[in-house]
Amino acid sequence: MPLTVIVLGSSAGGGLPQWNCNCPQCAAARAGDPMVPPRSQSSIAVSADGERWLLCNASPDVRTQLAQTPALHPRALRHSPIAAVALTNADIDHATGLLILREGGAPPVYCTARTERALTDGLRVLPALASYGAVTVRRLTPGSADPEVIRDRAGEDIGVRLRTFTVASKPPPYMLPLLSAEEIADLHAGDTVGFELSSADGASRVVYVPGVLDLDASLHARLSSAALVLIDGTFFTDDEMIASGASQKTSRRMGHAPLTGAGGLLEFLQSVTGPRKALVHINNSNPALRADSPERRSIEAQGVALSIDGDTFVLG
Ligand code: MLT
Ligand code: MN
Ligand code: ZN
Repeated sequence: MPLTVIVLGSSAGGGLPQWNCNCPQCAAARAGDPMVPPRSQSSIAVSADGERWLLCNASPDVRTQLAQTPALHPRALRHSPIAAVALTNADIDHATGLLILREGGAPPVYCTARTERALTDGLRVLPALASYGAVTVRRLTPGSADPEVIRDRAGEDIGVRLRTFTVASKPPPYMLPLLSAEEIADLHAGDTVGFELSSADGASRVVYVPGVLDLDASLHARLSSAALVLIDGTFFTDDEMIASGASQKTSRRMGHAPLTGAGGLLEFLQSVTGPRKALVHINNSNPALRADSPERRSIEAQGVALSIDGDTFVLG
């Protein structure tokens, strides 16, 4: 059974251009430079039948993303092809779109215990949504033996399977005051996870990891057995935000392995042969966003593409 994957948003938090940023990429996108097309915030949609879709991450841009994607338009007076939502974490760029999906009651939400807690006690998105209709949360357990069968509101299997795996990660910043020092120190508690999606027969595997810090053997094996890898392209260099004066945080400090440098993602991907490889969650500070940049050329020369909003992959 083929699986269809649509990249709804290829940018990291803030989008391109970001509201308060005048860096070269944001300025060019704002000016309509064809070398730097605008990008919306991080999300993909996955379907086995083209009728019922799993939204992976609900970005604050979800309303526009759905409007621009005919496959996701309502088919009746009150209807949406979005059968369920799965979240890789509770970051603002990945979770606040749930608030946009409130009319008629939000779709079922698949997430880890840590993400559910963040959405309940931190962002309070789930309690807020509850006043628009009952919200069903279905727990994802990283590393569980059986894949999760994705089901719509009515409990019907939509033909998509989801395996969840932990990646080294930090809690969302807004959760820090609510967590103990031990909870914060546990980088594998499920604050951020990766997804391996497939059709019901286990074929057409896509690995979706918009945030990943540790590049280890188990990730390597998982990527190698996939047909498509959509992976963290947030930062080109570890100190990109510091060098430009935009922030004091390194890429790694923000929970993202940089693309370049020793132990970087591109080096890691070199030995992953087989799958198509494309970057997602690309931050507006990343110079490779410019289509005619040397950074872009160097990524593409290594067999890795930069995904863009609207990219559609059909995995046979
Ligand atoms: C991240 O994943 O680190 C975020 O995209 C940062 C942000 O939301 O600004
Ligand atoms: Mn993000
Ligand atoms: Zn910028």
